[in-house]
Amino acid sequence: MFADLHQLSHHAAWRRQLEMLLESAGEGIYGIDLRGRCIFINGAGAELLGYTPDEVLGRNMHYLIHHSHADAGLMPVHDCRIFKAFKEGRGCRVEDEVLWRRDGSAFAAEYASYPIRDGGVVVGAVVTFSDISERKRTEAALQQAHAGLERRVAERTAELSAANRQLRQASDGLRRLSAHMNTVREEERAHIARDIHDDLGASLTAMQLELNWLRQRLAGQTEALAHIDAALEIGGTAMGAVRRILNDLRPGVLDHLGLWAALECLLQDAQSRGSLRCSFACPPEVERCRLGRDAEIAVFRIVQEVLTNVQRHAGAAQVLLRARAVESDLLIAVEDDGCGMHVPAQPTSFGLLGMHERAHAIGGTLMLDSVPGKGTMVSLRLPGALA
Ligand SMILES: Nc1ncnc2c1ncn2[C@@H]1O[C@H](COP(=O)(O)OP(=O)(O)OP(=O)(O)O)[C@@H](O)[C@H]1O
Ligand SMILES: [Mg+2]
Repeated sequence: MFADLHQLSHHAAWRRQLEMLLESAGEGIYGIDLRGRCIFINGAGAELLGYTPDEVLGRNMHYLIHHSHADAGLMPVHDCRIFKAFKEGRGCRVEDEVLWRRDGSAFAAEYASYPIRDGGVVVGAVVTFSDISERKRTEAALQQAHAGLERRVAERTAELSAANRQLRQASDGLRRLSAHMNTVREEERAHIARDIHDDLGASLTAMQLELNWLRQRLAGQTEALAHIDAALEIGGTAMGAVRRILNDLRPGVLDHLGLWAALECLLQDAQSRGSLRCSFACPPEVERCRLGRDAEIAVFRIVQEVLTNVQRHAGAAQVLLRARAVESDLLIAVEDDGCGMHVPAQPTSFGLLGMHERAHAIGGTLMLDSVPGKGTMVSLRLPGALA
C-alpha cells in the first residue's frame, strides 16, 4: 500500500492532494535534506515562524529557527536533537525547547522529527511543530497555583499543629491544676475535720460530761432533770451531726481500715438512706491490697460521686460494686439497674468531669457505659495498681 502511494504521489493529482493535506494541517510541517536545508514547508509552519514559505525554502533550518536555547545561549548544531536523530536514522519528539521567529522572538514549541527514507536510505527529515506557549503558560500557572496551594496547606497545617500544641498544653495545665486543686481540697478538708474534731468534738464531749455531772447532782428534781435530758439529747444530736460532717470531710474509716472498708461503709450509708439495695463484691486478694493515700482518696471520692448520682438520678432498685484484679490492674465497677442515660462523648458536667480528672490524676481511666432504660455502669481501671 505504501509502495502504491509512493507511485501515486508522483501523479500530479496526488501531489495536489498531498499539498492540500499539508496546507490543511494546523501544525507547522517542514522537510529538510541531509544538510538541514528546507525542502518544503506548509503555510501554517511558515506563518508560525513569521516567514512566507518562499523565504524559508533552501535555508538551513537549524540556523534559521533553532539556533539558540530559551535563555538565548547558542545551541550548536551537534547538540540539536532533530539533527542528531535524523543522522542516526531515528525519530524524536521534543517539547522543552523554543523555536525562533523572524522578528527575533522565541516561542515554546513541541516538535517531532522523523527521517525521510528513499529505498531504506535516509535522505532527510520531516518535522512537525506547534506553538505550545499557551499550554506552557497554563501548565506554569497550574504549577504555581498548586505550589501556592501546597504552601497554604503547609502553613495551615503548621498553624493547626501550633494551635493543637497550645490546646494540649492548656489542657495539660488545666489537668494539673485540677489535680492540684483536688489535693489542696483534700488537705483543706482534713484540716477542717481536725479542727472540728478537736474543738467542737472536744467541747461537745465536755458539755455532755458536765450535764451528766449536773444530772447526778440534781437527782429527784424532775423538772430540772427533764431540761438536762433535753440538753443531753440536743448534745447527742449535735455529736451525731459532727460525726457525719467529719465523715464527709475526711472518712476516718479510710485512714483506719483502708479503702475497701470505706467503700463498704459508703454502700451501707446509701442503703440505710432509702430503698436502694447495695452489694459489694471484692475478692480477698484485692481486699488485702492498699493503693496508697492519694489513690485511695481518689477512688473513694469517685465511688462517692457515682453513688450520689445513682441516688439522685437513677431511680435504681439496686447497685453493685465489684472490684477485681486483671493481672496487675485493678478494676472497680459500679453498676445500677436504674433509668440509664445518654453517655456524652465528652463529659462537661462537673460530677462526671471530676471523676474523669481524679481517675486521670492517679494514672487510671474511667469508662461510662449506659443506655437509657438499661441502667448505668461506671468502671475505673487502674493499670499496675496491684503490682
Ligand atoms: N447512674 C446514673 N443514672 C442515670 N443518670 C445519670 C447517672 N449518673 C449520672 N447521670 C446523668 O448524668 C448527668 C451528669 O452527672 P454529673 O454527676 O456530672 O452531674 P450532676 O449529678 O447533675 O451534678 P453535680 O454532680 O455537679 O452535683 C446527671 O445530671 C444525670 O442526668
Ligand atoms: Mg453528680
